[in-house]
Amino acid sequence: MSEIENLCDVIIFGGHGDLAFRKLMPALYHLFNDGYLNHQSRIISTTRSSMSLDEHSELVKIKLQEFLAEDVFDEVKFQNFKVHLIVVQLDLGDETSYGTLKKVLDEFPDRERINYLSTSPSFFGTVCKALNTTKLITKSSRVVLEKPIGRDLASSRVINVEVLKYFKESQVYRIDHYLGKDTVQNIMALRFSNRFFMPLWDASNIDHVQITVSESVGVEGRWGYYDDYGAMRDMIQNHLMQLLCLVAMEPPCSLDADSVRDEKVKVLRSLRHMSVSDIEQKTVRAQYAKGSSNGVAVPGYREGDGMAESTTETYAAIRVDIDNWRWNGVPFYLRSGKRLRNRNSEIIIQFKSVPYSIFANKGRCISDNKLVISLQPKESIQLKLMNKIPGLSEQMRLQQVDLELNAPMNEPRKPEAYERLMLDVIRSNPTLFMRLDEVEAAWKWADIIISGWKENIVSMKSYSAGTDGPTAAVELVARDGRSWHE
Ligand code: BG6
Repeated sequence: MSEIENLCDVIIFGGHGDLAFRKLMPALYHLFNDGYLNHQSRIISTTRSSMSLDEHSELVKIKLQEFLAEDVFDEVKFQNFKVHLIVVQLDLGDETSYGTLKKVLDEFPDRERINYLSTSPSFFGTVCKALNTTKLITKSSRVVLEKPIGRDLASSRVINVEVLKYFKESQVYRIDHYLGKDTVQNIMALRFSNRFFMPLWDASNIDHVQITVSESVGVEGRWGYYDDYGAMRDMIQNHLMQLLCLVAMEPPCSLDADSVRDEKVKVLRSLRHMSVSDIEQKTVRAQYAKGSSNGVAVPGYREGDGMAESTTETYAAIRVDIDNWRWNGVPFYLRSGKRLRNRNSEIIIQFKSVPYSIFANKGRCISDNKLVISLQPKESIQLKLMNKIPGLSEQMRLQQVDLELNAPMNEPRKPEAYERLMLDVIRSNPTLFMRLDEVEAAWKWADIIISGWKENIVSMKSYSAGTDGPTAAVELVARDGRSWHE
């Protein structure tokens, strides 16, 4: 086991929640087994109900077996991992119940503490305040906040102001797990380590950009949360915005956290805020109706318990304009939804046509170049180019070929986003986390659309579960003479 990585206590508030079991524990299990977690570190889960350590360990084991990729769970490795688990009963909202946690943490008062708030955002301020009252915040403590931070600018400010009463901005790690995906990080490598892309990456050469995150799953039992947020707050304001920033940002002067985040925030501040007619023309919101998913009939969104009146969108498509020199006139089309035909996330950089085709008038057409960055279901990068079909035919014939830009995998397994991010928190590297000004700039842009939707400036559309989404999204890009990459 590694002695190099920082020695720390990781405290998971909401330790028996879905995120903790689905993502955080598997990430810590891998980090531990791959030698990235110091062998004296402890993983302290807080839970509302009382539970013995044995019961907790058994539950963690069952959940790891469920959520780790097939064949990865190993009993011997688990036995070693289990030694680091601790469970503490705690009521997040009751300061008097933090005593047991204090006792556990005070065994090693100098140890770095990572407070992972895997809770609803409404508890972020409460937990930080209680940690302060109980004197559990040290100079080297960090706090990790899950997105979304608030439901709009005003509520995100309330949360951030509360958290920042007790932690410095440099101690706050606002997670957007999309930034932990390897291919997402590769966008920077691709753009800033290849001369080839440098002169092409602007409005003179790029026609438009598409960012799609489509999910085939529905709300998966998270109705309470999801109905309050919807696709715009759950996905577009954070995950898709972060992807847009990485594609659109200027080269940072270095890879240090603030240089990267300074460039991203410039992009967010350059987003064109929408007028009423922009909201009408450039946004689509929709809810899924009953249909089928992988051949199985599924109910519509409003057929969930108590959902008949819901006006929450499960799909959003938006044309985004960036008002700066590099991107003037280049639309970024974003779309994301649940219960769609496929699970598919990708970024398409669509280049402009060649200035004049010497082939076209002979009935042969040229497909414009595209860079396709796929995040899901498979991570890959392809450059679509035109090429001659080999042979002796009299007339030169063309075909589109894919240049695969995938790095060979030397590792036995690709790390999950949460592994990368958890390790970065352990290493105190905030580059892949959202700074306060980024969150606020993204909300400022999103709030205008959300309020327009609330006033019904665009009507809610519908799409059947298991399809490609509402036709209005097709019309959105068709109005500009374009189509979605399928
Ligand atoms: C989460 C959203 O942040 O991202 C979920 O809250 C969504 O609604 C999930 O399903 C998608 O993440 P991924 O990595 O599976 O694309």
